[in-house]
Amino acid sequence: MFDADKFISEKVEDLKGEIKGQAVIAVSGGVDSTVAAVLVSRAIGKNLIGVHVDTGFLRKGEAAGVGKMLTEMGVKHVIIDASEEFFSALKGVTEPEAKRKIIGERFIRVFEREAKKTGAKILVQGTIAPDWIESGGGLRDVIKSHHNVGALPKDMDLTLVEPLRDLYKDEVRKVGKALGIAIYDKQPFPGPGLAVRILGEPSRESADIVREACAIVEEEFEGAAKAGKMELPWQYFAVLLPVRTVGVQGDVRAYGCTIVVRAVQSLDGMTAAYSKIPHDVLEKISIRITNTMKDKVNRVVYDITNKPPGTIEWE
Ligand code: XMP
Repeated sequence: MFDADKFISEKVEDLKGEIKGQAVIAVSGGVDSTVAAVLVSRAIGKNLIGVHVDTGFLRKGEAAGVGKMLTEMGVKHVIIDASEEFFSALKGVTEPEAKRKIIGERFIRVFEREAKKTGAKILVQGTIAPDWIESGGGLRDVIKSHHNVGALPKDMDLTLVEPLRDLYKDEVRKVGKALGIAIYDKQPFPGPGLAVRILGEPSRESADIVREACAIVEEEFEGAAKAGKMELPWQYFAVLLPVRTVGVQGDVRAYGCTIVVRAVQSLDGMTAAYSKIPHDVLEKISIRITNTMKDKVNRVVYDITNKPPGTIEWE
């Protein structure tokens, strides 16, 4: 049985010996990088600097939430709003893999720039066992290049420290819980963020629409789960389609966008079954989304595709 408290006390001692001087970590707000940041800060305190990059494709309130959480956990950090750089790099880009590549490269550039300012010589990463095990096998077809935007190049002239390298996801969550990290059970979020939930060209306006829709889906599902109406799916979010359909708002013709609600049950994301959500919960989401964004969205649909043949995200 994995003993999280034992892991923490031994790892903190190891890290005290391993890290001399300043270290830097890219904190995405996800479970792995947050756990790595808190663990290392327990060992070296203010010598660790967390860098959180706002790409413009984060969830609603994410940057502020990450800042608050790191402050509460005593992790020194900076938050960089680089959204303008990401939006302009993605102008005219519609192909999913091209989006991933551009976002990944841009992220590295922004992070490198900010890491240099800290003067750190050590790079901490929240790599976990499946990350390096899965990237070892070149036999499978590339369906999507699952770059985490946190995957940084090794040629940054920084020494790499990966304190979670030998852990699996459930163990990382246990460590997070033992460290008192509130988000230890957070649902997965793709590295390229909302950009792969906007089909077609991502822009500030489309990011705002899908961000609001994702927030509504999260609030309603979490509320319904708390009320005992349903089980919380493994992953749940909204996707913005580039097609417009005819509708009616009041008694006026509307011609707006479509939002897809997606929710799946899965163990590891490799396969998934669509979640059977109570219709009243879906209806409330539909009404809230179309009321909140009256002039922009006039249709909401629910995705009933398993993986395979679909994937969880739409891109
Ligand atoms: P798919 O869509 O391939 O997703 O069924 C499986 C899981 O991976 C997440 N996902 C990503 N994660 N970078 C990531 O770090 C990516 O580019 C990426 N694309 C998908 C997805 O949210 C799901 O949890």
